[in-house]
Amino acid sequence: MAKLPSASEIIPKLDETSMNEPTDAGRFYALLRFEEASLALRAVLKMNLVDRIADQHISRYAIGEMFGFTKQATRTFLALLEVMEILESTAGRYCVTDRAKMCLADGRATSRKPYLAMGMDSQVDELIEVLQGKNAADAIPLYGGENAGATVMDEPEVAREIALGLSSRARNFADPLATAISSEGSKATTLADIGAGSPYVAQACLAAMPRLEKAILLDRPNGMRFAHEIVQKENTDTRRLVFQEADFFNAVPTADIYVLSNTAHDWQPQEYALIMNHIRRAIPADGLVCIHEPLLLTNWDTDTAWLRALWMACYALTLLRLTLGQGTCYSIEEHHEILGKSGFHPIGVPIPTCDGCTALLYRPMTVEIN
Ligand SMILES: C[S@@+](CC[C@H](N)C(=O)[O-])C[C@H]1O[C@@H](n2cnc3c(N)ncnc32)[C@H](O)[C@@H]1O
Repeated sequence: MAKLPSASEIIPKLDETSMNEPTDAGRFYALLRFEEASLALRAVLKMNLVDRIADQHISRYAIGEMFGFTKQATRTFLALLEVMEILESTAGRYCVTDRAKMCLADGRATSRKPYLAMGMDSQVDELIEVLQGKNAADAIPLYGGENAGATVMDEPEVAREIALGLSSRARNFADPLATAISSEGSKATTLADIGAGSPYVAQACLAAMPRLEKAILLDRPNGMRFAHEIVQKENTDTRRLVFQEADFFNAVPTADIYVLSNTAHDWQPQEYALIMNHIRRAIPADGLVCIHEPLLLTNWDTDTAWLRALWMACYALTLLRLTLGQGTCYSIEEHHEILGKSGFHPIGVPIPTCDGCTALLYRPMTVEIN
């Protein structure tokens, strides 16, 4: 796993005046993701995946075993290979597509493997190691709970760039997200933004839902300091904002509405479920949960839909790499399954916001959950 560059390598000089101007860098963020597709293709060639699977129709689990991948990596990598039309699946069994057999196998006149494999570099080996759960000894995770040891977010300068990068995206989606939440949450008086990162979503919700008396921002201290920085720089009205430094793996505060935006994707299903179980214990019976995420797409029938599916599947691989094998994008069905086990049922339709994210709304089921 390559080390993250330092802040000064990313942005040599900061122009102070530009800090307060809204920026829509979403398109550039999206472009960064597509490098994962070429990396994944080269990993396929390096591992001889097409020849090794050959004519078999096998389960996701069996492919994971064959290449020594972790469960989260298998889910993520196979989703991308399906969008890239190297694999296809029916009823949970995977096989190599005819086109991949023709173009990517060894020893075929139609194969373009030698050409496509040119320029392969060490990043491909690093990706394969991440897929196999072999992280470099000095690799540190992006995020962690309070007892999880050092994280990238403990390095203030790099953390600042990550937090400001994420907050500039949050500023873009805050209004459409607040509109999506207010469609079901207009009577609520308290909202908690879990893993808030920035104040923008809370502020937009306070504006969109006048009955809200307070919006709680929950984050680890190492993330919260940038929310404070933003609030100070922008002279934000903080009267209805509550800043709560806490670990969402320990507990969450009581609120009528919970927002979990771009946070589920940093974790494995069991850790995501842990956060949701805390929310389930704290939420009132008529409460509302909004999961706001880039969603893995499971079908695409137009070129535009395919491009979006590719973007999301590439994003999933970026997340897996950034979080040292923990995170990924989940499909709507996977979100519903995880939330269902924690005692929530989906309501309404998925609502796209912007920068590739979609809001999913849930209410607690009426049955008691332990
Ligand atoms: C990818 S960012 C999402 C930020 C924001 N919600 C958004 O949509 O842009 C994940 C956030 O979760 C926070 N976080 C990570 N681990 C946490 C933990 N154990 N407890 C509380 N917050 C945590 C991070 O500090 C970060 O602000």
